[in-house]
Amino acid sequence: MTKGLPRVALFLFLSTVMSSMVSLSRNAPLSSDLVLEAISVTKSYGNRQVVDQVSAELRRGERLALTGPSGSGKTTLLNCCGGIDRADSGILRLLNQNLAQLSGEQLSAVRRHSIGTIFQFFHLLPTLTAAENIELPLQLIGQDSTARKARVCELLERIQLTSRAGAFPAQLSGGEMQRIAIARALAHRPALLLADEPTGNLDSANGEKILTLLKELSDETGTAILLVTHSEQAAAICHRVLHMRDGRIERESEA
Ligand SMILES: Nc1ncnc2c1ncn2[C@@H]1O[C@H](COP(=O)(O)OP(=O)(O)O)[C@@H](O)[C@H]1O
Ligand SMILES: [Mg+2]
Repeated sequence: MTKGLPRVALFLFLSTVMSSMVSLSRNAPLSSDLVLEAISVTKSYGNRQVVDQVSAELRRGERLALTGPSGSGKTTLLNCCGGIDRADSGILRLLNQNLAQLSGEQLSAVRRHSIGTIFQFFHLLPTLTAAENIELPLQLIGQDSTARKARVCELLERIQLTSRAGAFPAQLSGGEMQRIAIARALAHRPALLLADEPTGNLDSANGEKILTLLKELSDETGTAILLVTHSEQAAAICHRVLHMRDGRIERESEA
């Protein structure tokens, strides 16, 4: 379990120290079950408005699909919601915190504690085993080793990959890598899971397995999901669908 970990030790140490320096209100009781609130969010690259006055809400346990043609601004919007990118104007509130008012360090801390992310190409760290990849976010929030190991075992069992705990990503199939990535994204029990085309690189049988897992896990944990997808099958696990075109929400429909 420790092979490869020294490489990230300094990063983990700095992250933990920074995290403890930042005062977070994440444990305060919420006034509502609103996880994410976007009001008239706008983002441009150069003089091109890529996200154009988008407003949306996401509540605890809710799954919201974001669909639309390639280049319509889905990933940019997702990145703004996750604090990876900054919106130019409008308001983005995650768990009642206005992201625009947070410093870079505070934003990193919010991401570490409250957000999990999965991607089309999995983005597992190749030098860490499956179990170590899942353990990483728990190290980033400073959880002790015993609690970490217990959580990793629980998740490996939940995604039915206990027997592959010591495998490296290159030794896993695409479907297995995405299941590990989901476990990693949810290990620290984030309020919000951001998923950018998570079945885009999988065959339909594996894609379906991933979608069922996402649906079940969010039902079990109350994690809200913002799911960017081209697939109708993926949108079908969501409660609502936002259709995006040229940076705008063209319409909203029931899934
Ligand atoms: N970092 C960037 N710099 C400049 N243009 C970008 C950047 N990221 C995305 N874009 C442009 O913004 C538009 C929307 O991109 P994106 O949000 O990735 O759309 P989608 O995810 O819907 O395919 C595209 O035209 C893309 O080329
Ligand atoms: Mg995209």
